[in-house]
Amino acid sequence: MRIKKLFLQNFRNYEREEFCFQDGLNVLFGKNAQGKTNCVEAVFYLCTGASLRIRHDKQLIKLGAETAQISAEAENRYGNVTVEALISENKREIRVNGSKIAKNADLMGHVNSVFFSPGELRLIQDGPDERRRFMNISISQTSPAYYTALLRYNKILDQRNALLKNSDYSLVMDTLPVWDEQLCKYAATIVKKRVEFLEKLSPIAEEMHAFLTDGAETLAVKLDKTFKGDEAEIAETLKRRLSNNYEKDLRLGFTTVGPHRDDLDIDISGIDAKAYASQGQTRTGALSLKLAEVQIFKELSGEYPVLVLDDVMSELDLRRRKKLLQRVHGMQTILTCTHTERVLYGADCNKIRIENGRIKE
Ligand SMILES: Nc1ncnc2c1ncn2[C@@H]1O[C@H](COP(=O)(O)OP(=O)(O)O)[C@@H](O)[C@H]1O
Ligand SMILES: [Mg+2]
Repeated sequence: MRIKKLFLQNFRNYEREEFCFQDGLNVLFGKNAQGKTNCVEAVFYLCTGASLRIRHDKQLIKLGAETAQISAEAENRYGNVTVEALISENKREIRVNGSKIAKNADLMGHVNSVFFSPGELRLIQDGPDERRRFMNISISQTSPAYYTALLRYNKILDQRNALLKNSDYSLVMDTLPVWDEQLCKYAATIVKKRVEFLEKLSPIAEEMHAFLTDGAETLAVKLDKTFKGDEAEIAETLKRRLSNNYEKDLRLGFTTVGPHRDDLDIDISGIDAKAYASQGQTRTGALSLKLAEVQIFKELSGEYPVLVLDDVMSELDLRRRKKLLQRVHGMQTILTCTHTERVLYGADCNKIRIENGRIKE
């Protein structure tokens, strides 16, 4: 997978700009607040139909403009693909090879990227939200079924939570099983895919971690709850867990069990990394998980995703930077940094200087 061109118009602080990327390493460099992250955010949007952090597309539109337009010319294993997004305040339109897509799930898989930012480096020490986000984004890109199940699950979950706040006890008790039937169907799809994903991810992450630490540390990752069997059995297990928690859910006014509460158990050299690992260890662990994610993409889709490294080099020590560059060699990588010389050590790359929303020749 590679992105050949990226076009931005009225997107964030860009008025109009075109980026040409080469195979291998591309480095966007420049001072702070010049538009490096904005550029890779556009890449992320064209891959996932979502922005990096924000919930409202409006912020993506250049201040004072009405609409933003971004597009990428890419090449995947099937050939050339163009993805365009037209973003207005209240609506957006995404086209793949010129045809408008009806739903976001149809976008997934055309252009894939694995995105890596300082936030992701805190994947292990931060709260469970980050770790669920990691699974959700990663699995969605190779499984539209997962993405769709997740959307439907969240919708029913909202309705269930609203019901839990209803003061009519008998109405609530009559209605809950009906919601739960549906909720568990989608939850089971989510759980099953997560379990499969983590079973693949764990041994690869372990290998990456050994590579990054020269064999000094081990790493293992799994879901923090155990599930057995196929989707139907998982749905039954979840239904039981939900009904066991009726009283608690009613008291708290929200749903306390289910995939929206699941977390990862991460073990580094025999200790619970979330609670006890040092900052250096958790960063290396996060790097291992992300590099494993890249590898899984390759296995599931037959090609490497585009790797985006936004500002991560400054967070890593010299040895890990070198290891990282060594590891990603040969994949198309878009890397942002403030000082090229400090991170690249003469690596062969396409350097692009960004200044105030423009490419500086
Ligand atoms: N919608 C927008 N319109 C105009 N400027 C924006 C918009 N959103 C963000 N910016 C500007 O973009 C700049 C930050 O760009 P960013 O890509 O995060 O910088 P960096 O190069 O440090 O990664 C800030 O100056 C911010 O004001
Ligand atoms: Mg930035």
